[in-house]
Amino acid sequence: MEIGGTKVCRLTQLHWWALGATLMVLLLCAFMVQLIMTSTMKASSVLMFRSYISRQAVNDQLERVYDSNGYLIVSPNGGLNQMRAGICDMVAIAIYLNLTFVVPELDNTSFWRDNRQFGDIFDVDFFITSLRGQVRILKELPPMQKRRLEKMRQIVSFAPISWSDISFYYYQMLPLIKRYGLLHFTRTDTRLANNGLPLELQLLRCQVNYQALRFTTQIEELGKKIVRLLRKNGPFLVLHLRYEMDMLAFTGCTEGFDNREIEELTNMRYAYTWWKEKEIDSEKRRKDGGCPLTPEETAYALRALGIDPTKQIYIAAGDIYGGEKRMASLRLAFPRMVKKETLLKPSDLEPFKNHSNQMAALDYMVALEGDIFVPTFGGNMAKVVEGHRRHLGYKTTILLDRSIVVNLIDQYKNGNLSWVEFSQAMKTGHADRMGSPAQRLIIPGKPKEEEYFYSNPQECLPPIHQRPKVST
Ligand SMILES: *[C@@H]1O[C@H](CO)[C@@H](O)[C@H](O)[C@H]1NC(C)=O
Ligand SMILES: *[C@@H]1O[C@H](CO)[C@@H](O)[C@H](O)[C@H]1NC(C)=O
Ligand SMILES: *[C@@H]1O[C@H](CO)[C@@H](O)[C@H](O)[C@H]1NC(C)=O
Ligand SMILES: *[C@@H]1O[C@H](CO)[C@@H](O)[C@H](O)[C@H]1NC(C)=O
Repeated sequence: MEIGGTKVCRLTQLHWWALGATLMVLLLCAFMVQLIMTSTMKASSVLMFRSYISRQAVNDQLERVYDSNGYLIVSPNGGLNQMRAGICDMVAIAIYLNLTFVVPELDNTSFWRDNRQFGDIFDVDFFITSLRGQVRILKELPPMQKRRLEKMRQIVSFAPISWSDISFYYYQMLPLIKRYGLLHFTRTDTRLANNGLPLELQLLRCQVNYQALRFTTQIEELGKKIVRLLRKNGPFLVLHLRYEMDMLAFTGCTEGFDNREIEELTNMRYAYTWWKEKEIDSEKRRKDGGCPLTPEETAYALRALGIDPTKQIYIAAGDIYGGEKRMASLRLAFPRMVKKETLLKPSDLEPFKNHSNQMAALDYMVALEGDIFVPTFGGNMAKVVEGHRRHLGYKTTILLDRSIVVNLIDQYKNGNLSWVEFSQAMKTGHADRMGSPAQRLIIPGKPKEEEYFYSNPQECLPPIHQRPKVST
């Protein structure tokens, strides 16, 4: 930022040189630097707890003047939330390394097969202007660079090494960008380490995630409408019931399915050649906590944790495998169960219907607003929403320990535990799994096993001793 100021100084100085008005220039520079610093401070205070800024405030931000080291082009991969986290990482890197960022083209070859692009999901203009104090973002690569990329694709297009820290980007990627003028990262999932990064970079990840990325007006309005409809009927719990066919086929979890269904799931697993694991012991995996909870198990878990059976439950999910039949036990336990399809008119959802990322964006919005959020399996949505809810003031997120849950349920069912004992054991087992303030778990050398940065972005949250107590 100061350099931005210096640069303005240099240019202005040249201009006024002949007039010998150096003093005036200095005054002007001091004023500019002051102005830029003020806007920087404004930007960092925005990172603070539970703060919302209006579009107007962002538009007031001055554009950063800096020497770009080249263009960064990225192709985020995965579903909505994996892409979201990847985009945050890459924008943070672009800011840190003084690059010019290009609005990403989203992955439309993944399992989710959604051909909608960044601008159909996120507000592009807001994204660009809200970050203009830090980085130049172009909607498209300029034609000359496009030709360059095509010509040199074999050299400049590749996936960066997973879980890299900033030294990889600084010492290995930056020289390449300077040499070729651009780099294209073909994947963005978990390419930046969770920990051991400069604080500034961590804060930038949060700024992009919680401030610069917002959904399109169309999605925002429909999301708000769902929340309004829910609120009208009182508090609501958002249940991210990860129980779609792909998830079950992939994990090989067959608890409670009949032979025909098991065969169908197994066939799907074998059909996807890039899913490596084929032979799966469902029962063992379940006991180890490796299976998404079934709707029935979820009902037991929520009731045992003391969730009021008359509470509204919003199901944030795609198509539940097994349909209504499979949902019956959960509906019996919580009769006030709704989802966007039952709350909205079909015409409201029509524009989004075949676009899984936009549907997921709607659920994301509702999940942020729920009084309680409960994911039944730890996927990217579960993790990113968990962190976002911490950022919004440690809103309660019940992080079910699936191994504890299924083992206690089995003991309750075989009569070894009474309901009271079962319920008590569930509450004890989850006392510190409510999304309350906590240090992010760091496991040096095992990035896959540590807590994800976006689940608990503690650098962007108030220090632990100041944290408010959250009731459940
Ligand atoms: C980025 O630009 C700032 C000034 O805006 C400068 O201080 C810093 O050294 C630059 N970093 C790189 C990696 O070019
Ligand atoms: C994927 O997106 C690219 C760029 O927007 C587009 O050219 C291509 O046709 C899309 N592919 C599919 C399968 O939708
Ligand atoms: C949506 O997808 C279904 C099948 O999955 C198809 O029958 C229908 O025509 C599609 N609708 C639109 C508007 O693309
Ligand atoms: C029943 O509970 C006891 C103690 O809580 C435990 O040692 C035992 O293994 C359990 N039995 C079964 C069948 O789960």
